[in-house]
This record gives sequence, C-alpha cells and structure tokens, in this order.
Amino acid sequence: MSEDVIELSRKHIFGTWRIQKTWKPINVVSAEGCYFTDSSGKKYLDFSSQLICINIGHGNRNIIESIYEYMKKLQYLTPAFTCDVRAELSKMLLEIMPGNIIKFFYSTSGTEAVEAALKIARMYTRKHKIISRYRSYHGSTAASISVTGELRRIPIDGYHTVPGTQFAPECYCYRCPFKLSYPECGITCAEYIDYMLQHEDDVAAVIVEPVVGTNGVIVPPPEYLPRLREITREHNVLLIADEVMSGWLRTGEWFAVQHWSVEPDIITTAKGVTSGYLPLGVTGVSKEISDYFEEHLFAHGHTYEAHPVTLAAGIATINEYNRLKIKENVKIVGEYLGKRLGELKENHPSVGEVRGLGMFWAIDLTRDGKTRKPMNTPKDKLYGRPIVVEKVASRASELGVFVIGWVNNLLIAPPLIATREDIDKGVEALDEALKISDQEVG
Ligand SMILES: Cc1ncc(COP(=O)(O)O)c(C=O)c1O
Repeated sequence: MSEDVIELSRKHIFGTWRIQKTWKPINVVSAEGCYFTDSSGKKYLDFSSQLICINIGHGNRNIIESIYEYMKKLQYLTPAFTCDVRAELSKMLLEIMPGNIIKFFYSTSGTEAVEAALKIARMYTRKHKIISRYRSYHGSTAASISVTGELRRIPIDGYHTVPGTQFAPECYCYRCPFKLSYPECGITCAEYIDYMLQHEDDVAAVIVEPVVGTNGVIVPPPEYLPRLREITREHNVLLIADEVMSGWLRTGEWFAVQHWSVEPDIITTAKGVTSGYLPLGVTGVSKEISDYFEEHLFAHGHTYEAHPVTLAAGIATINEYNRLKIKENVKIVGEYLGKRLGELKENHPSVGEVRGLGMFWAIDLTRDGKTRKPMNTPKDKLYGRPIVVEKVASRASELGVFVIGWVNNLLIAPPLIATREDIDKGVEALDEALKISDQEVG
C-alpha cells in the first residue's frame, strides 16, 4: 500500500508552495515524542516539529484523551452559544498573553487569525493601509498574503491581493538592507518605519513577526520592538504581533514580545496553541479595541469558529506545557542547541550565520563568508532553480533527521520536549549534510 499512498497523494493532492514535480512526500505511519516512522520502518528525528507546531511532541496521551473526552460531550456548538471550554481557554490566555490583551476570536489557522486581525484593525481604525516588512510570512488568503513580504505573494500579486500594503525593510543585521552595522546603525530599520508613517496617511497598523520565522529566525536587537511600539503609538497606528510561529514557548517565553515587554494592540497565534493536534487560530485584542465593538458591529465570523473540541485541545496543551515544565526545558536544552549549532558554524564555510532564541534557530547559508552572498535568493525558489538548502535538508532526511529548508535557511525547531541526546543526533546529521553546501563555497 505504501507506494500507492505516495502515488495517489502525488496525483490527487497539491504539494504546497512548490513546483509539483519535485514533491516526494514521506509516507508516515506512526509517531512518538520527537520521532516519526515511515512505511519502510525508517525512524526520523523531527527537527522542525513538522511545521514548527508539534511543540509537545507526538503522541501526548493527555492531549489525546482530552480531545476524545470532549468530543464525547460536545461535537459542535454555534458561535452564538457558549460552553465551558470557551470560557476556560480564554481565562487561561489572559494569564499567559501580554497583559493588555483581553478578548479573543478563535478560528482554525494562523492565516485566519491574521485575516481577522487585519479586518479588526481596519474596522476599528477606519483606516486602510498596513505596513509590513519584506522578510515576512503572514498567511495564504487574500489579506494575509497581501501583507506577506516574501516570495509566496509574488505569483498572485495584484490578482488576489488587497491594495494598501506598504513594505518596510526588515530588521536583518546579518544582511542589513541599509548595509549598516548594529549598534552604530541606530536601528535605522525601525526609524525608517517612523519616516514612512510621517509620509503616509490612512495607516491602520504595522504588522510584524516579533521573531521572524520561516524567513530565517531573525531575532531583533533588544531596542527594536520597544522602539517600534513607541513609533506606532506616536503615530496612532496599531501594532499587530504575529506570533503564529514564535508563540507558545518556542523562543523561551509564552510569546516572543514578552522578551522585550512589548504590548501589541493585536496578537495572532495558532500552531503551538494545540501543539498542532487540532486546527486552532487565535486573534487577541486590547481593551480599547474590545470596547469599540461594544457599540459597533463585529462584522466577522465562521461556522467553525471557537470549535469546542479544538478549544479543549488548547486547554490540555497549556496544561501539558506547565506539567512538563517546558519553559525550563527550552531554557536548558535551547542553550545547548545554540551552542551545538555554533560549532557547525566553526566547521562549515557554507554556514554564514547561526542565530535564534530558545528552541527556534536558523542556519543561514552563504557562498562567501566575507561578502555574505546567499546560496540562493527568493527568486531562485520562485522560478524553480535548484536550492542548495533543500539538498542539505534531503541529505539530512536520508540520515534520519527531518529539517525544513526554506530558500537559504535551515529551520531548526525541535519539539520543546527534546533532550540533549536528541539535539546531538540532529546536529550530527547536519554536520554531515552541510558538506553538500560546503562544496558550493568559493
Ligand atoms: C508568522 C506566521 N503567520 C501566519 C502563518 C499562517 O499560519 P497557517 O499556516 O496556520 O495558516 C504562519 C505559518 O507558518 C506563520 O509562520
């Protein structure tokens, strides 16, 4: 059956964000903890937590039981009614999200969480424009892809996008868009957004991934987000923190903005909220925004919003983060992961930079350590040219370690339950796989 599964899948299901003929899916038959097994019996270390979501690891019995128990109790409930899990999860979120966030809209993905955030921002401010940054991914539907700066927007730009996005340069010190160096730069990338806001009118919000995810796990210097918060306040513009990937202890705090004590007006999240066990997206808003809709129509909703079984999964997942002391594990094992990845930089000329926070890291490749020229550009991916990082990822896969390679970065984000032994296994495979990119240097 295994070959059939792959063939039938290839024939009848779209492989997403890729040219179809290159899709060679692994047929997974079981998974436990940080590992999954394919139909040939080969076991893989899951070094990217599938799609940076299965934070608690595969096969967590407590989450599975909670889902099963709640499904027996309530299978569906109209959004017009309420039930225990709707109240309980919201109460739990109040405790772990930035303090000013007090009201939630529950959907079924990160994309929908962002879509709702943009709509809420526009309804509340009655303004239209959104400022985003080039190195960003915010989702795949009309509004969320419109504020996505990277290559995935390009194929539908102008056909499916909502007008009104202005893109700002990202905060990416390794290859600074302004060709400046930190700290002498005076965080020009944040000041540039101030400049944009001086010259633009009708701006509803600035949206950022506090730690950029797919586009290279970019951690901003400490003053960047606090300064952006100041700038957005001065211009009376909302700040939306998209924590779909960076939330849920991935970076060591419940949400990445908490590293810098920044309170966004709107926060979006998904993925780790249920550890990927069920589809749940969350859009959280401040009291000011919440108050506005006391007197104005909240013109948004879905049939599957706040689906009770997904919320039960969310509650169970938060309980597991606490019971398993995940925050402590991320601190200890995350530090170890950073140290081990740093060793790869010492040994591989194709490793330009290793950067990250908590258990969220990237290996950014280069053809030349001096000029920092990337192995591949977003346009290479767009036009189907060979991508070196994908070759490295497939060599790692041969060696039994699954890791995502996107454009020019390997995304290293193991389940947050990973041990030092798991890290050693992953790093060992990368050490071997990076020999492929080393051959491209010089
Ligand atoms: C920062 C960010 N926003 C939004 C999304 C979209 O989330 P989803 O794939 O659940 O729709 C993603 C997905 O990776 C993401 O990383």
